[in-house]
Amino acid sequence: MSAASLMALLLLPLLAAAALCVPATATKFTIDAPLLTSKLQTNRSILVGTSGREDFASLQEAIDSVPDGNSGWVIIHLRAGVYREKVRIPESKPYIFLRGNGKGRTSVVWNDSSTENTDSATFTVEADNVVAFGISFRNDAPIGAAGTPFNQTVAAMVAGDKVAFYHCAFYSPHNTLFDYKGRHYYETCYVQGAIDFIFGRGQSVFQSCEIFVVGDKRIKIHGSITAQNRQSADDSSGFVFIKGKVYGIGGVYLGRAKGSHSRVIWSRTYLSKTIVPEGWTNWSYDDTLENLLYGEHRCHGPGANHLRRVSWAKQLSEAEATPFSDVDFINGKEWLPVYYLDDL
Ligand SMILES: *[C@@H]1O[C@H](CO)[C@@H](O)[C@H](O)[C@H]1NC(C)=O
Ligand SMILES: *[C@@H]1O[C@H](CO)[C@@H](O)[C@H](O)[C@H]1NC(C)=O
Ligand SMILES: *[C@@H]1O[C@H](CO)[C@@H](O)[C@H](O)[C@H]1NC(C)=O
Ligand SMILES: *[C@@H]1O[C@H](CO)[C@@H](O)[C@H](O)[C@H]1NC(C)=O
Repeated sequence: MSAASLMALLLLPLLAAAALCVPATATKFTIDAPLLTSKLQTNRSILVGTSGREDFASLQEAIDSVPDGNSGWVIIHLRAGVYREKVRIPESKPYIFLRGNGKGRTSVVWNDSSTENTDSATFTVEADNVVAFGISFRNDAPIGAAGTPFNQTVAAMVAGDKVAFYHCAFYSPHNTLFDYKGRHYYETCYVQGAIDFIFGRGQSVFQSCEIFVVGDKRIKIHGSITAQNRQSADDSSGFVFIKGKVYGIGGVYLGRAKGSHSRVIWSRTYLSKTIVPEGWTNWSYDDTLENLLYGEHRCHGPGANHLRRVSWAKQLSEAEATPFSDVDFINGKEWLPVYYLDDL
């Protein structure tokens, strides 16, 4: 049993006793930086800040100081502040825990626009076993770069396996989160973008995340939140959104057909009227639709009305939804330091 579920069990008698005066939301334990730190059990830490008294003033320099082939957790504490730099955790430096001071206080910002998603990313993770807590990752390139070929403006590209973000935020004027490949967990994160802004062939769970859509006036079509790119029946990738909220400005689709076997599931999520009634789109897609799994399960809110959904959208039954209902979808119980289980 994980410490997370154990902790929840330990809390139960206490909460039951206090149930009459505690709001329902308070019964959920909070994943915070001290809990993560205690789970990762390390005394190796590096301090980054701008006061001149820390080990480094640059996050990239702190990452560079971790030895290649690192095999034990290293905490990089990022003090509150705006770090204007492009940051990359290379494949050779796994087991890094980036511990920010809260997504409203610690941010990593750069402004590259490029013809390639991979080149534009403000933050790139290529290593396995990386955890981030309490950091905003932002690409603040001007939106005017669109209309030119240099119109990719990724905030974060996640290409390692077993990568988890807790209480982080991702901002870009356009295609924000390149969930490229590997198993990933996003918990209580905020993702803001315009078109296809969560994309790639990652195998990912978005638990209790907020998705905010900003309308893109450059184009006439509706944008899409996701463009998942699963390529075959034995590809384990897919995006699963659990108990979050979607809202924004302008109309968008939940996803668009991309890879021939793409999977995107929205489960128990609030969908505002920003989701257009058709729900999903096959824009610029000419493959067969029969192998796609674009599903919704017990969503609510004005955008969840499925009477006018495209014919290939699915409302999942309880049994169909089960493989997509918690961190088992990413084998999370085996590798996540902490996670939420359903109905805690
Ligand atoms: C860190 O922990 C290891 C093993 O737990 C111990 O041997 C080492 O002395 C500690 N180092 C510091 C700087 O506390
Ligand atoms: C990107 O940011 C740098 C550093 O703040 C700044 O000098 C540069 O003008 C910015 N570029 C654009 C296109 O805004
Ligand atoms: C982005 O650039 C590509 C070429 O790299 C171009 O085909 C596309 O129309 C551009 N999109 C926008 C919104 O400017
Ligand atoms: C895409 O959807 C439209 C409208 O539902 C439909 O007319 C068209 O045949 C679809 N394209 C493919 C490739 O299925």
